Amino acid sequence: MSVFIHGGQILGPNGVERADVLVTGSSIVGTGLDLPVPGNARHIDAAGCYVMPGLVDLHAHLREPGTEEAETIETGARGAALGGYTAVVAMPNTTPTIDSPSLVRDVLAIAEGALCEVVPAAAMTVGREGQLLTPMGELARMGVRIFTDDGRGVQDPALMRSIMEYATGLEAITGGAPVVLAQHCEIEALSAGGHMHEGEWSTRLGIGGQPSESETLMMLRDIALARRTGAHIHFQHVSTGEGVEIIRQAKADGVKVTAEVTTHHFTLTDEACSSYDPVFKVHPPLRTAADVDAIRAGLADGTIDCIATDHAPHEPHTKEFPFDQAPPGMLGLESALALALTELDLPIERVSELMSSNPAAIAGIGDRHGNPVEAGQRANLVVVDAESEWTIRGTAMASRSHNTPYEGRTVKGKVRFTVLDGELTVDDGVATR
Ligand code: DOR
Repeated sequence: MSVFIHGGQILGPNGVERADVLVTGSSIVGTGLDLPVPGNARHIDAAGCYVMPGLVDLHAHLREPGTEEAETIETGARGAALGGYTAVVAMPNTTPTIDSPSLVRDVLAIAEGALCEVVPAAAMTVGREGQLLTPMGELARMGVRIFTDDGRGVQDPALMRSIMEYATGLEAITGGAPVVLAQHCEIEALSAGGHMHEGEWSTRLGIGGQPSESETLMMLRDIALARRTGAHIHFQHVSTGEGVEIIRQAKADGVKVTAEVTTHHFTLTDEACSSYDPVFKVHPPLRTAADVDAIRAGLADGTIDCIATDHAPHEPHTKEFPFDQAPPGMLGLESALALALTELDLPIERVSELMSSNPAAIAGIGDRHGNPVEAGQRANLVVVDAESEWTIRGTAMASRSHNTPYEGRTVKGKVRFTVLDGELTVDDGVATR
């Protein structure tokens, strides 16, 4: 079976160029003009669209096992495909925690046939309790490359040092492939009792605050430990301007550090919480306009490596609780690309780096995702009309939950087709199954 994508602008090895793409089986077999197209090929009209490497999300909560009423691997992967993703890293803060080889195997088995590749991350500590290391060696041997206690950071610095020392030794098992420690930076002794950013708005609203230092002090600690151990530390959902500056400095000093920011941390501020609507409650919290500006600068200058979603579905009734009792988290997979295209004044090549090639490299799946559109690459692609406008609606999403903070917002950038291993997962804006 062949797919012929014609009339679009491809993101190829030499940047943006006008070219058609021929896919046969699971590979791109040709790009250019006047390609020899097999008679039975499916023709896709990509006029006015970019044909880009499929997106990769380093940070999605698919909720399976344990909270399938909020999301399943199947529904999360369908939303991901609709958002232009061909791979997502599934967070291990499920019930039970994904902290053993058997649970990783279960997730991989459930994910077979899903509309995107699901890459399980495993916890760094058993049950994410911050006490005992998980069997990281065994997990690495079966292919796990990202370890994280996401939802919590590892509080004990001595344990974090041991995890880093252990992780650096694992490269003997992985054949040199990097093992990445993804940290949710939050010193719980500082954030305890807080439900939003600590600042002017938390004071006015009478809601307990989480200070920026609860993020930045853990970053400083982990940079010091990464410098000592040589481990690769990846900072998840960086929310503060100070954090961006810390990463900039650490990179300049040669520390092995990478970082992601979420869509909501570059589009929303703590002022949104003045509605008392828990749809705006998230960890780390929405911060100030100055933080948003610093994050945008970090995305532009290369300090920040990736845009991640932190897609965090929650059942509708739980987001009806009072602000201090509602669970933190927001949907992200189906709106992230459009928000990046609408809100960031970045060239499409940089958006693609941030949402595809950089996260693919960090997740260790760069052999099959995030590569330039050219012959010989795996056909993991997205066709996006960057100018087409649409309105975000939670109930229109494939997710089992509806907690988007962007309800009613009009954005530009519509995913028209997504191709996973040569097969259409999204066909003219509709999921294929
Ligand atoms: O807001 C959040 N929600 N932050 C996290 O770190 C975890 C996530 C969740 O699992 O709901």
